[in-house]
Amino acid sequence: MANKGIVYIWKCMVCGAKHYGKNPPASCKKCSCEANRYVLVPKSSQGNEEWELQNYLGLPGLNNLLYLIGTSRKGIPNAMCCSSVTQISFGPPLVAVAINKNTLTHDNIKETGVFSLMPLGRSQTKLAHHFGRNSGRQMDKFVDYKYQPTSTGCPIIEGCDSYYHCQVDHHTTIELASHTLFVAQILEAVVKASEPPLTYLDYTREMSGS
Ligand SMILES: Cc1cc2nc3c(=O)[nH]c(=O)nc-3n(C[C@H](O)[C@H](O)[C@H](O)COP(=O)(O)O)c2cc1C
Repeated sequence: MANKGIVYIWKCMVCGAKHYGKNPPASCKKCSCEANRYVLVPKSSQGNEEWELQNYLGLPGLNNLLYLIGTSRKGIPNAMCCSSVTQISFGPPLVAVAINKNTLTHDNIKETGVFSLMPLGRSQTKLAHHFGRNSGRQMDKFVDYKYQPTSTGCPIIEGCDSYYHCQVDHHTTIELASHTLFVAQILEAVVKASEPPLTYLDYTREMSGS
């Protein structure tokens, strides 16, 4: 009885679509992203644009750069978009990436211990969206995208001029609740910064048409 009559508003943090109901939809009807990209809009914040913008960024005030993470298992390439990436040491050169346990990328990295890391440029929102809003569990994301494999088979996607080839140190892997934090050493780096980097804020602004 307590909840009778209450209208819950869910908002898609990718395209801004709203959904009304007790639970978020299984996937977004507008942009097809997964349910975990819907957040419940607190009653006190409904219609508050600042709250909405902050939630696009995950945590208020943080605006990460976007990358593609490429993996390959049993000869099958895959890639996903990732914002939780940071450099953590220079000697040896280490990066940390936080990968959701539901993703195919997660399982691929656990098994193979290697991945390619491709920083995205300001003009590459479409790549972020394609690889970040579809799972390799449901589709071959490479049907319309060309790539070159690294020595371990990880894809370097056409148009990604800079990339890092990384090897995970499973001793320093940290299990978080929803994600695993992989620490990896950079084995090879190709850096040709030709345009400004793509940020999460750029991505969400472009996707929401603002
Ligand atoms: C802009 C953007 C940023 C993302 N950042 C992350 C992230 O930091 N970590 C993560 O696990 N997933 C992140 N994702 C979601 C994955 O890219 C998404 O779940 C993808 O479908 C996983 O693909 P896979 O199952 O083929 O590995 C992001 C998606 C987008 C669009």
